[in-house]
Amino acid sequence: MLDFIKKLFDSKPVQETTPASSVSDVKQYYEDWTQRYIESFGDTFQSRRLNDLPKLTEYLIGSAGIKSDMKIVDAGCGICGPAIMLCQKIDIQIDAITLSEEQTEIAKKKVAEAGLSDKINVICGDFQKMDSFLAKDAYDGVIYLESFVHSDNTQRAVDAAVAITKPGGFIYIKDLYHGTARNAQEKKDIAQVVQNSNKHILMNVKKLHEVVAAFENAPITFDFIKKLGFDADVEVANEFIRRNMIPLNQNIQSDIFFLKFLDYYELRVTKLFN
Ligand SMILES: C[S@@+](CC[C@H](N)C(=O)[O-])C[C@H]1O[C@@H](n2cnc3c(N)ncnc32)[C@H](O)[C@@H]1O
Repeated sequence: MLDFIKKLFDSKPVQETTPASSVSDVKQYYEDWTQRYIESFGDTFQSRRLNDLPKLTEYLIGSAGIKSDMKIVDAGCGICGPAIMLCQKIDIQIDAITLSEEQTEIAKKKVAEAGLSDKINVICGDFQKMDSFLAKDAYDGVIYLESFVHSDNTQRAVDAAVAITKPGGFIYIKDLYHGTARNAQEKKDIAQVVQNSNKHILMNVKKLHEVVAAFENAPITFDFIKKLGFDADVEVANEFIRRNMIPLNQNIQSDIFFLKFLDYYELRVTKLFN
């Protein structure tokens, strides 16, 4: 495990490239597309998920290491489907952040309907700047469930998360990254899939080592980086792409559905006490 992380640190230096999608583009995308997400995904906008959402929630609690009485930030919370299910399973407080005003309104309503307004505080804002509107060294955990991929400044996003996390607290990121090519054609196709995803789903799909490198100077230790620990049900994501005719397979030569060209990882770090 440590060798693996060292190899990632030692890989090519991270180049600052112009992000494909700016935060304001991402915000507009979710203002325009939230209803379509709800039509396909329901309350949980994750492309790698389980149809059994209570089981997914239990998995996330275990993998992220969420414990009773923790104060958590759900960074990129959607309409709070995951936050509500987490609070129904375990007694925690959540500050849930989304860029989208539309999502904020829907989330607040859902939280109230679930009787969890004293547990979940929904905030409309940019998680890359959350250290300017949330207390520093204050949270037991920060979770990103397929939201970090949208960030247009990896270093800023990591710094903000580290700043608000308590020493001893954790940051957990479940997300998708550039896939692993086995030959030159796949390498080209992966680049194309990333380009298509960035363009049509307003992502900034990263290479895993870029995210690892952003933690390099932070007071953290890596707990794990692992491939997604469950066999995901992918029909919901596939149906969303088909129904909305999103051309993610455009200009791909290999006869493989685009999702095969993206790798899903879970990453967890703990903030140190110095
Ligand atoms: C694919 S959805 C996932 C939503 C949620 N985590 C879930 O599992 O249902 C991505 C979410 O990230 C949010 N997001 C993306 N970039 C953000 C940013 N810079 N600040 C706050 N939220 C952001 C979007 O508003 C959206 O709610």
